[in-house]
Amino acid sequence: MKLVVAITGASGAKLGLKFVQYLPQEIETFVVISKSAIKSLKLEENINIKDELKKRPNTHIFNETKIEAPIASGSFKTDKMIILPCSMNTLAKCAVGISDNLITRAFTVMLKEKREVVLAPREMPLSSIALENMLKLSNLGIIIAPPTLAYYSEQSSLEQMEDFLIGKWYDLLKIEHNLYKRWK
Ligand SMILES: Cc1cc2nc3c(=O)[nH]c(=O)nc-3n(C[C@H](O)[C@H](O)[C@H](O)COP(=O)(O)O)c2cc1C
Repeated sequence: MKLVVAITGASGAKLGLKFVQYLPQEIETFVVISKSAIKSLKLEENINIKDELKKRPNTHIFNETKIEAPIASGSFKTDKMIILPCSMNTLAKCAVGISDNLITRAFTVMLKEKREVVLAPREMPLSSIALENMLKLSNLGIIIAPPTLAYYSEQSSLEQMEDFLIGKWYDLLKIEHNLYKRWK
């Protein structure tokens, strides 16, 4: 599978990093990081995301300005995309078809080629504009899957709660995992 993972500057950009780190190695991954994501990860976690991502094989890393990257073209075959976390800024651009950087361009490509996309919007509370944008994208077939906590899987730490969320996103993208205990 060829998977596009975009990490934007919403809180919890670390989830995007962990999502990539946990991926099975055979999944070829194209990661795009927004300028704000680099900043928010540094501020929230003191992490240099590129250094961390470079440790994973089968991973191509791009800045949002790399508009000539393969994933900017529909002729380059990818299978699925996730924007994790998705800022309200990127959500709004996706909803109106703005393609001003590699993240929004890759999203536009996935939309026009009718490929599978999951968005994980992160904001609290949500404005009416954000809710309208999510409804519009949902009606276009995009899966809206925010990082929403659940307690049925017996998580007892933040780490386990994050694993649960990543497991839920893997489920949506049909990626096998053993990250949380399923309800029986
Ligand atoms: C530490 C930090 C946390 C942020 N958290 C959020 C958030 O949860 N949701 C959001 O929409 N924007 C958040 N922002 C603001 C975005 O980073 C900002 O709107 C930025 O323009 C998004 O750009 P991007 O969509 O290109 O990544 C945060 C910014 C910082 C520095």
